[in-house]
Amino acid sequence: MRWIHAAGRGLLVLVVILTGYVAAGARADEPHAGGRGPLTVATAGDLTGYLGSVLDGWNRTHPGEKVTLVELPDSADETHAQMATDLRGGDRSRFDVLNIDVSWTSEFAAQGWIRPLARDRFPLDTFLPPVVDTATYDGQLYAVPYVTNAGLLLYRKDILAKEGADPPRTWTELERAAKTIAPKYGLDGYAGQFLPYEGLTVNAAEAVYSAGGSILGDEGERVTVNSTGAREGIGFLARGVREGWIPKRALTYKEEESKQAFQDGRLLFLRNWPYAYVGASAKGSPVAGKIGAVPLPGPDGPGTSVLGGSNLAVSTHARYPDSAARLIAYLTSERVQRQVLTRGALPPVRADLYEDPGLVREFPYLPTLRESVRTAAPRPKSPRYDQVSLVVQAVVRDAMTGRQTPEAAVRRLARELDTLARR
Ligand code: GLC
Repeated sequence: MRWIHAAGRGLLVLVVILTGYVAAGARADEPHAGGRGPLTVATAGDLTGYLGSVLDGWNRTHPGEKVTLVELPDSADETHAQMATDLRGGDRSRFDVLNIDVSWTSEFAAQGWIRPLARDRFPLDTFLPPVVDTATYDGQLYAVPYVTNAGLLLYRKDILAKEGADPPRTWTELERAAKTIAPKYGLDGYAGQFLPYEGLTVNAAEAVYSAGGSILGDEGERVTVNSTGAREGIGFLARGVREGWIPKRALTYKEEESKQAFQDGRLLFLRNWPYAYVGASAKGSPVAGKIGAVPLPGPDGPGTSVLGGSNLAVSTHARYPDSAARLIAYLTSERVQRQVLTRGALPPVRADLYEDPGLVREFPYLPTLRESVRTAAPRPKSPRYDQVSLVVQAVVRDAMTGRQTPEAAVRRLARELDTLARR
């Protein structure tokens, strides 16, 4: 058997040498900095499976600048880990253009992984106002907004109608209906994305912001979490699990699992991104025609969504930065932005599409979404955002499983974030 291992090892060495050689050869061919050539685009899981068809449009008309798409996992944290590993490889990195979560721009820029971009190459003034800020760091543009996002509360219209209840506008109304109406129909009450990963940070930040609290100030230099608002926000989530109107199984949900629970008719209320509303309304969904979407509720009125979405960035080691910029201009053109909505069920960044009568007819939630994006609050901007998010996830998890009171959780958050805030 030993010789097989030896032969395997020899083969491995050969493959490494060959790929090393090819990679080195490819770099030596580089025509000149800023030149044109093929690109590799990395993205988080394409949940609605539309991006391939959008990129086919580019590939057909740009034969010398063909894009290869690398789809990374569904979970934002795993995508982050894989992109970071690739980018740390320096000039061995495979990715030229990165479709990064809006919350990563500062970290990727501070690490020197992505290049500053020239504002005048991109149609920034046609975008919804809050999104451009997610693409800047220290006053410099490091990425271009591509997709935006805001959380919505999806609800079972059919069941609320039978009960003569309106969709909830406040946490009290949400809690009451989740506690009293859901069990009558054999449903779970309320869920969001509560597995410890970026989704939990989003849901926790929304609860904190909705109650008037915040997490970090400035560009991550100040810890602002120690407040009544933060205690109230985390208290809302912890109370839900303790009282059972947030089911225990929701502590394992990411976007897809929570969408599935709602779509299968097992859930009365769901916090999710608009793609879940589109999926659950589609032909063949058991709850099609039975659901509605409203802005997220807060303690005594409308709450605040976190601003989601993704930005397109160019790796510092991109071989053809000019092609990368041209591709980004294409993906943010009006034509492709329309496809982002119609094929991808994702919220475009171009403002005028939200007022297009044809699109509003086809996607009746657009005006609600536009308002939710307009009032959405960004996640803390920090060059160490990945660690900030891990702290939030761990602490909120402990509060939601009852291991720590909301008061103790907020004190611990303040303490742990403080060690990350000092640069
Ligand atoms: C969505 C949002 C993104 C967020 C992620 C959390 O993909 O667009 O901004 O970080 O969900 O799971």
